[in-house]
Amino acid sequence: MSTAQSNEVILSGIRPTGRLHYGNYFGAIWHFLRLQQTDACCYYFIADYHALTTITDRQEIYRATLDMLRTYVACGLDPEKSVIYRQSDLPCTAELTLLLGMVTNIGHLERGTTYKDKLAKVQDDPKIAGNPLSYGLLGYPVLMAADILIVRADAVPVGDDQRQHLEMACDIAAKFNHRFGEVLHIPRPLGRDALRLPGLDGSEKMGKSENNTLDLLDDPQTVLRKIKAVPTTTDPLPLDTDSDAPEVVIPKMPPGVGVLYRLLSLLAPEDVYLEFLGQYRAGGKFYGALKKTVAEHVSNFNAPIIEKYHDPANNDTSIEDFLRENAKRVTPVALETVEACREAMGIGRSLYRA
Ligand code: TYM
Repeated sequence: MSTAQSNEVILSGIRPTGRLHYGNYFGAIWHFLRLQQTDACCYYFIADYHALTTITDRQEIYRATLDMLRTYVACGLDPEKSVIYRQSDLPCTAELTLLLGMVTNIGHLERGTTYKDKLAKVQDDPKIAGNPLSYGLLGYPVLMAADILIVRADAVPVGDDQRQHLEMACDIAAKFNHRFGEVLHIPRPLGRDALRLPGLDGSEKMGKSENNTLDLLDDPQTVLRKIKAVPTTTDPLPLDTDSDAPEVVIPKMPPGVGVLYRLLSLLAPEDVYLEFLGQYRAGGKFYGALKKTVAEHVSNFNAPIIEKYHDPANNDTSIEDFLRENAKRVTPVALETVEACREAMGIGRSLYRA
């Protein structure tokens, strides 16, 4: 994403569905941290409504939500600079979802990659647990559109896997405005630098439900175990480029090796990265040393986050109040948006504003 312009509204969220992994960090949080240093107004929320599409245990969702807040802060999100709230503390988002649903085509939602992936999984394994093909899952992008549009966001930093959902949000807003007048603010598109980090198993995407993640709270032994298990048995592929740019080189590598180089390019100094790239070109036997170096850089990166996560000051009992107070700061603009949509659609003001 390019840099924020003065006083822009930035919004993004993460589902509390387990510990944060490197895909979450470099796809999203890295941008959150950068943007909170600007004079943009940053809203970062914990998407607990969205997590209900996969989590069904009521205690688990509550625990994971509070844990997510601790991890946000441990990563460096500053509650003085960013407004950090819980999605469900802004229930008018659910009303906006309903209103936006009136202009959303089912066919559009059925083409969503998350929905299609789940559908394929259910077709492979019809006995899959829970209620995988819920109305909530199909409508996931509409709720996401409501999150974005309700605060009149100008820009939405997310990883590459969420690009389609963002485009859907912009389409839904454009359709609403076309039908009911220019009510909704359409965010500007993301830049080209949205990242998609592959999984440690070499698959296309690191993801919580794929069980292939490297986590920010992994201790050094876990990191080493996970990195050692990255598949690197395939022979190096020939490089047909003389550029050292990671974007050019990494896709040409066997998948497991590619993820190691991607991590190295994100974490290590450039000279270390280039040295290993030279070894790749030379075709020597170096994967053991590469894994050791990547594991060291990962553990060094995790250490301060783990320390801050366990800091008693980051674990006080007033978290619940903190989240609610922050949601109150977002509520005026959110209600204003919902009221404007209601009026535009002809159902008039709600009791909130009577
Ligand atoms: P979630 O929790 O699945 O992902 C949170 C963020 O992490 C990014 N991400 C990745 N980026 C790069 N490589 C990966 N392997 C990788 N895995 C995850 C995601 O792109 C995302 O930015 N639906 C959202 C949550 C949400 C939201 C919103 C975001 C709900 N409403 C409104 C923005 C605006 C999601 O993907 O959560």
